[in-house]
Amino acid sequence: MLVLGIESSCDETSVAIIKDGREVLSNIILSQDEHTKFGGVVPEVASRTHLKTIVPIYEEALEKAGVTLSDIDLIAATMGPGLVGPLLVGLTFAKGIAYAHSIPFVGVNHMEGHLSANYITHRDIDERHLSLIVSGGHTMLLEVKSFGEYEMLGNTRDDAAGEAYDKVAKIMGLGYPGGAALDKLANQGDPTYMKFPRAMLHDKSYMFSYSGLKTAVSMHIKSLTAEEFQKNIANIASSFQEAAIEVLVEKTLRAAKEKQINHITLAGGVAANSRIRSMFAERIRGNQKLFYPPISLCTDNAAMIATAGYYRYKKDGASELIVNAVPYLKMV
Ligand code: KG4
Ligand code: ZN
Repeated sequence: MLVLGIESSCDETSVAIIKDGREVLSNIILSQDEHTKFGGVVPEVASRTHLKTIVPIYEEALEKAGVTLSDIDLIAATMGPGLVGPLLVGLTFAKGIAYAHSIPFVGVNHMEGHLSANYITHRDIDERHLSLIVSGGHTMLLEVKSFGEYEMLGNTRDDAAGEAYDKVAKIMGLGYPGGAALDKLANQGDPTYMKFPRAMLHDKSYMFSYSGLKTAVSMHIKSLTAEEFQKNIANIASSFQEAAIEVLVEKTLRAAKEKQINHITLAGGVAANSRIRSMFAERIRGNQKLFYPPISLCTDNAAMIATAGYYRYKKDGASELIVNAVPYLKMV
């Protein structure tokens, strides 16, 4: 079964063709750089850029996969959560081609897309597992009972983990979005330089909080002279990263132990982080097993949307073409 997936929820325009939910025939991703100079995504600029780029990217995805639209069995597009204007571009385009060519269509939850990126690469994930989905907009710890059946164990009270990375990166002058740059810099620093707060680490819930950590880093930087800051920039990045990641890793492993779940999947942009991967590897025990997608499938892409669409379609059938964009679409 060939699925054409479309992702346009934020500032990536992406179209992919996936065979049987697992084999990536093409996955074209255009990351809009129009937003860099604004230090954040400007929704109207994102919508207009999606409009300009979606058709050429769609054509490139078909060409790279060596297929035509008549070979496609299902069209899947992100319907939320995300920015309403950007979502509408991809969703309306997807529904339009589905209607014009009588191809079944399915609307996809972007977060279920992130989760599904793991199914592209790994075949041996237990049906019941834990998933830590950490992106620019979300921090969620889910118990996956089976595909489509989730229990939310915890999320963030304030900022998402990726948002904290982006805000701290901005304060440190690393540009936007700065998660990957901060990660790289952190690897050259000393994580014990400063003990930044690990918010809610000892709290019994599986909730997270990141705004205090961001403020602590910001206050520390303000207390330094320009030279001190420059001298310690990698140490600050490294100390922030250690605090940000430790809470994610510890709370996930505690949930795994308490719920007796051995398989853990990571997903979302922050799953691309080098320290989250290494700290899990250091702290995992016994039969516990960690899975994460390759970096290109952690950050926003249409391959994960096509795969989620494939499993959704198998579970619930096609969506009605009247489905609309839902900016705050829930996962549970
Ligand atoms: O999943 P994603 O592409 O978009 C959303 O759905 O939000 O995640 C983007 C987020 C950004 O906050 C970005 O800074 C962060 O993921 N990110 C990283 C890394 N690569 C991307 N954060 C930490 N370390 C990284 N290597
Ligand atoms: Zn995302």
